[in-house]
Order: sequence, then C-alpha cells, then structure tokens
Amino acid sequence: MMRTETMRKVFAAAALAASFALASGAAAAADMTKKHAALECTSCHAAGGFKAPEPQKCLGCHASDEIVKATERFNFTAKLTNPKTKQEVAHKALVNPHDSYHYGRTENCLDCHREHTPSVNACATCHDVAPWKMGAPR
Ligand code: HEC
Ligand code: HEC
Ligand code: HEC
Ligand code: HEC
Repeated sequence: MMRTETMRKVFAAAALAASFALASGAAAAADMTKKHAALECTSCHAAGGFKAPEPQKCLGCHASDEIVKATERFNFTAKLTNPKTKQEVAHKALVNPHDSYHYGRTENCLDCHREHTPSVNACATCHDVAPWKMGAPR
C-alpha cells in the first residue's frame, strides 16, 4: 500500500517536472521561421519529443530531385590552363549544396538549414563562398 502511494507521488512529480521542461523548451524554440509558419510542431517533432528531425523527415515533404534541381544553377564551369601542355580545360565545380563535390546528396540538411534560429552556409567554414553567390538558405 505504502509503496504504491510513494510510487504514485514520484510519478506525479516526474510528470510535473517533465511538463515544465517541455513548456519552457517549447517557448524558447517557438520562434519559428516564416517558411514553415503553417506547419504543426508535430510535422517535425514526434509527439512528446523536441529532438532535431532526421533529414528523412525533411525529404518526406521536399523531394530530393526537386531541391537538387532548384540549386543546380550554383554549379559553374571554370577554364583552367594545364601548366605543362598550356591546354585549356573546362573544369566543372560542383557547388550545388544539395548535390555537392564532397557529399553528393548525403549532407545533413541541418548543416545549413535551421528552424528556430537563422540558417547558415556550412561551405563557408572552409571556402570563400562569395564568388559562388551562395548565401545562407532560409
Ligand atoms: C510536413 C511537410 C514539411 C516538412 C516535414 C518540412 N517542410 Fe520545409 N516546407 C514545407 C512547406 C509546405 C513549405 C512552404 C511552401 C514551399 O515553399 O515549398 C516549406 C518551405 C521550406 C523552405 C523554404 C522554401 C523556399 O522556397 O524558400 C525550406 C528551405 C524548407 N522548407 C526546408 C525544410 C527542411 C530543412 C526541413 C527539415 C528540417 C523541412 N523543410 C521540413 C513543408 C515541409
Ligand atoms: C550546404 C548547405 C545546404 C544543405 C546541407 C542543404 N541545403 Fe537546402 N538550400 C541551401 C541553400 C544555399 C539554398 C538556397 C538557394 C537559393 O538561394 O535559391 C537552399 C534551398 C533549399 C530549399 C528551397 C528550394 C527552392 O525551391 O528554391 C529547400 C526546400 C531546401 N533547401 C531543403 C533542403 C533539405 C531537405 C536538405 C537536406 C536533405 C537541404 N536543403 C540541405 C543550402 C543547403
Ligand atoms: C519544419 C520542421 C520543424 C517544425 C515545424 C518545428 N520544428 Fe522545432 N526543431 C526543428 C529543427 C530542425 C530543430 C533543431 C534546431 C534548429 O534547427 O533550430 C528543432 C528544435 C526544436 C527544439 C529543441 C531546442 C532547440 O532550440 O534546439 C524545440 C524545443 C522545438 N524545436 C520546438 C518546436 C515547437 C514548439 C514547434 C511548433 C511551434 C516546432 N519546434 C516546430 C524543426 C522543426
Ligand atoms: C571542412 C572544410 C570544408 C568544407 C566544410 C567544405 N569544403 Fe569543399 N573543399 C575543402 C578542401 C580542403 C578542398 C580541396 C581538397 C579536395 O578537393 O578535397 C575542397 C574542394 C572543394 C571543391 C573542388 C574544387 C574543384 O576544383 O572543383 C568543391 C567544388 C568544393 N570543395 C565544394 C564545397 C561545397 C559546395 C561545400 C559545402 C557543401 C564545401 N565544399 C564544404 C574543404 C571543405
């Protein structure tokens, strides 16, 4: 009897603490970017958790082929001269963020796209991206 009562109190206290954590966490992150203003929180966060979603979640609504096509224009061709033969060679620079030289289509969306804070351009960590004319995404 005694044990059951204690357990009940422990569970009640835990549930209360969890609901406080949830409420303050949600309030801190509720500053949604406009792009997804119409979405429910649960479109990205399974009920009961506020973990960053996996790329699969994003890809469920934004087809891979479509985002690759939308940013294909960032790829460019540069003319390089072979120093030995002096021959000009066309060199394609694969800077499409959704199908890039390093990662192909496998880079995690959240390297660049953020939901509750401004997005970033992960390529800029190492490259001077100004000539690419590729800023941070929405
Ligand atoms: C439940 C469906 C859904 C999910 C999940 C989702 N989105 Fe969206 N997203 C939309 C809709 C709807 C829009 C607004 C219409 C549009 O522009 O395509 C949008 C807009 C965007 C835009 C702006 C598009 C533009 O034209 O500028 C970006 C960027 C974006 N989403 C990235 C993401 C990323 C990254 C994730 C994962 C963290 C994600 N989305 C998850 C439905 C979704
Ligand atoms: C290396 C950085 C980077 C990564 C990683 C990345 N994106 Fe993007 N994304 C961008 C940039 C930059 C743009 C904006 C391009 C522009 O100005 O049109 C963009 C645009 C978009 C758009 C809008 C496309 C449109 O129709 O104009 C969507 C949707 C999107 N990304 C979704 C995703 C999803 C989903 C993932 C993960 C599978 C992802 N992105 C990964 C940088 C990135
Ligand atoms: C389109 C997908 C998407 C939607 C819709 C969304 N979130 Fe998020 N959420 C994210 C991503 C991505 C992160 C990882 C951090 C970031 O990108 O800001 C995140 C992180 C969080 C976190 C963890 C704390 C933090 O800032 O890292 C909380 C809490 C949260 N979201 C609450 C919410 C609430 C509340 C709503 C509804 C008002 C909501 N989210 C709607 C994608 C989404
Ligand atoms: C951690 C540092 C780092 C990040 C982040 C990074 N790169 Fe690179 N990148 C390099 C280095 C180092 C090289 C040269 C060595 C090599 O080719 O791998 C390079 C080479 C390249 C090349 C080959 C240049 C050529 O001759 O065609 C391209 C294209 C490129 N990066 C695009 C990108 C894009 C697009 C992103 C963002 C999605 C990115 N990089 C992010 C370090 C980085």
